[in-house]
Amino acid sequence: MGTQTSVIQTIDLCKSLPMGGQQLEILSKVSIDIQRAEMVAVVGPSGSGKSTLMGLIGGLDSPTSGQVIIDGVDITHLNERALTRMRNEKIGFVFQDYNLVPTLDALENVMLPMQFSRSRRSGAKQRAQDLLAMLGLDKRLHHSYKQLSGGEQQRVVIARALANQPPILLCDEPTGNLDKASTALVIEALFEIREAMGTTIVVVTHSPALAELLDRKIVLVDGKINEQRQ
Ligand SMILES: Nc1ncnc2c1ncn2[C@@H]1O[C@H](COP(=O)(O)OP(=O)(O)OP(=O)(O)O)[C@@H](O)[C@H]1O
Ligand SMILES: [Mg+2]
Repeated sequence: MGTQTSVIQTIDLCKSLPMGGQQLEILSKVSIDIQRAEMVAVVGPSGSGKSTLMGLIGGLDSPTSGQVIIDGVDITHLNERALTRMRNEKIGFVFQDYNLVPTLDALENVMLPMQFSRSRRSGAKQRAQDLLAMLGLDKRLHHSYKQLSGGEQQRVVIARALANQPPILLCDEPTGNLDKASTALVIEALFEIREAMGTTIVVVTHSPALAELLDRKIVLVDGKINEQRQ
């Protein structure tokens, strides 16, 4: 092993689904290699397989063939229990369908993932406060979901994803419905997180401006890698 450390690796990853009696190929031989503390954009047209790739990397879905290696461990043969543990320990998800719990306030939402780990439960409140402050939400701790703007909600989702200090953060269109100012805050937060914790961050985005800011871009077209620019 060299000085670099692969945190996320996929090898010839394929995903197909049965569709009208045929197999629809969604991802085809996708091989990527992402190093520790890299911030990588995944871009490509709608339907090109970006969210599918994120689901496979996060162990939320299983490939038809090929491998996903997280921190040196091939996760494609793990059972459901081991996969759940891997997700809890290693991955923070900022996905559009990972919504906040509406009956909890911002602070409680961020504390929630820490409740499942005995060692983390004691410092949970302080840590949740610190994370929310880092994301510029120190004055919004006790606002419920409905009392937060879209950009604020998105930042609470990011804080919650970071609660258990995962080494990997997977973001699927984290700035999807945000205005310029909120987008800038989210991007700034992602850079701060990487700086503070060495987090490896993968961001699916339709924003060319955001993609350009990151270290590298992976372009998917029709389920295949089109170009990888350093
Ligand atoms: N369960 C499914 N059954 C059949 N086809 C599916 C299923 N899930 C996804 N697909 C198809 O797989 C392709 C890739 O979907 P995916 O959600 O990964 O695209 P995407 O790149 O994230 O697009 P977008 O930018 O619109 O979010 C699409 O053509 C979609 O219709
Ligand atoms: Mg998508």
